[in-house]
Amino acid sequence: MSIRIEGSVDRGSAVEVMVDGRPVEAFVGESVAAALYAAGVRELRKSPTAGGSRGMFCLMGVCQECVVRIDGRLTPACQEPVRAGMAIELGGSLA
Ligand code: FES
Repeated sequence: MSIRIEGSVDRGSAVEVMVDGRPVEAFVGESVAAALYAAGVRELRKSPTAGGSRGMFCLMGVCQECVVRIDGRLTPACQEPVRAGMAIELGGSLA
């Protein structure tokens, strides 16, 4: 079951992105954070100090809790639009 809103929602085209090497359906132009959330991903990385789970919080680019590695670059997932074929690595650290 999808948690996406169905019906009269305009979305970009469906594409596949790789998340830790596995294919995940996403839509061009939605945020990587939205795509990950829709795919059931809640833990994006571990805290570099205490080791606790970190995930999305503000969803507006302020908190940096959603930082993941996208195509080799540490990036806030909530600020990066989905592109076809992007490679997303979870578990990244800000260190
Ligand atoms: S959730 Fe806060 S910067 Fe992305």
